[in-house]
Amino acid sequence: MATDDAFRLDGMLLGVASAATQIEGGDVESNWSDWGSRPGTIADGSTPARATDHWRRWREDTELMASLGVQIYRLSVEWARLEPQPGQWDDAAFRRYRAELELLRTKGIRPLVTLHHFSHPLWFERDGGWLAPGALWVWERFVAEVVTRLGDLVSEWVTINEPNVYVTGAYVFGHFPPGHRSLREGMRVYSVLAAAHLRAYTLIHALQPGPGTMVGVAHHLRPFRPGNPRNPWHRALTPAMRHLFQGAIVRAMTTGEFTFPLRRPAGIPAPPAGSGEGHALYADFFGLNYYSRTTVTRFDDGTPPGVPVNDLGWEVYAAGLGEMARWAWEIYRLPVWVTENGTCDAVDAFRSRYLWEHLSVLSEARAQGIPVERYYHWCFVDNWEWNEGEGPRFGLVALDYETQERTVRDSGRFFAEVIRAGGGTP
Ligand code: NOJ
Repeated sequence: MATDDAFRLDGMLLGVASAATQIEGGDVESNWSDWGSRPGTIADGSTPARATDHWRRWREDTELMASLGVQIYRLSVEWARLEPQPGQWDDAAFRRYRAELELLRTKGIRPLVTLHHFSHPLWFERDGGWLAPGALWVWERFVAEVVTRLGDLVSEWVTINEPNVYVTGAYVFGHFPPGHRSLREGMRVYSVLAAAHLRAYTLIHALQPGPGTMVGVAHHLRPFRPGNPRNPWHRALTPAMRHLFQGAIVRAMTTGEFTFPLRRPAGIPAPPAGSGEGHALYADFFGLNYYSRTTVTRFDDGTPPGVPVNDLGWEVYAAGLGEMARWAWEIYRLPVWVTENGTCDAVDAFRSRYLWEHLSVLSEARAQGIPVERYYHWCFVDNWEWNEGEGPRFGLVALDYETQERTVRDSGRFFAEVIRAGGGTP
């Protein structure tokens, strides 16, 4: 596939994304290690203890990343490692993250660090997780410690990853820990997560004053469309689901305005009068995770027969990335960072095409004036896909879980070529 004329990505930064629990492995007491140890929770019975062994192989992985020309890297820190007991910090774990961040910087790869990517310490979960009365205080203590101890190496932060996917998985459908099924509880957690972001946004800027500090959320957005546009039930459900899944939470986290079904938690101040949907007071960029779209016939993520799908059955719909980038830009007027985009394709049959199509959509969006500044591909090395376990293969690099051998896929070489041909300068 020729890359020279295909894209107009000049100036856009290109890289990869990961999450601690999905790659690090090792003995960590988190909500996910506990969940994975219970029978029937993970599709293949695996746990995050193996993963890609990145906790020990970080040098090798960083070298490989650099050899592909990766310019930016989104990673997360594992809260359970850094604070194994409430208020007790693990200095060795901080040193290990510092060493990785230093190597990234030496290689010219700019880090973007996520503070909560679906996982937290088991003690936090056992205390009631985000619904515990002191949750926000405990969270702020963690954020302050990380920013103070890593802030000389990192100035770009994602506070919370995919609050909507976390809430629906953990509190509505129950396939993420703690496995609850209550829409009511889910809406309460939504509101707390929004508050957690608002607090963290303010705190990080107080700890790292200066124009280089960039703080945002990685929002999972998808187009929703009615299964049958003539069916009144489908037509009514579509905007309702869109609002419940993404409209309300994006608005609360970006502007500080809590609209139905969210409710402002006690102690969270209202935004100044006169601010409204478009006023992005609590974000410096719009983090967009994009994978697929939902065709609505009932209350779940529907995919109609006959559309192209990936190995997990998710519709492949590149235009949706542009639709979501435009939506974010038109309402919030923030630079768009695609904090995740990728697909699950074990034999690497269509990942290069997927990349090409999604990057083409971004190049078109940029030509139309939407400031898409960054693209982080999900993911670098195949990793542990939460309740789906080790089966799904999202990597530009294939992993043999038994030997831990990494093999760059054709799509990985293709991405490297795209970076060489069209990426910006970090
Ligand atoms: C988004 C999540 O943030 C990430 O953890 C997950 O692996 C990918 N989607 C693929 O499902």
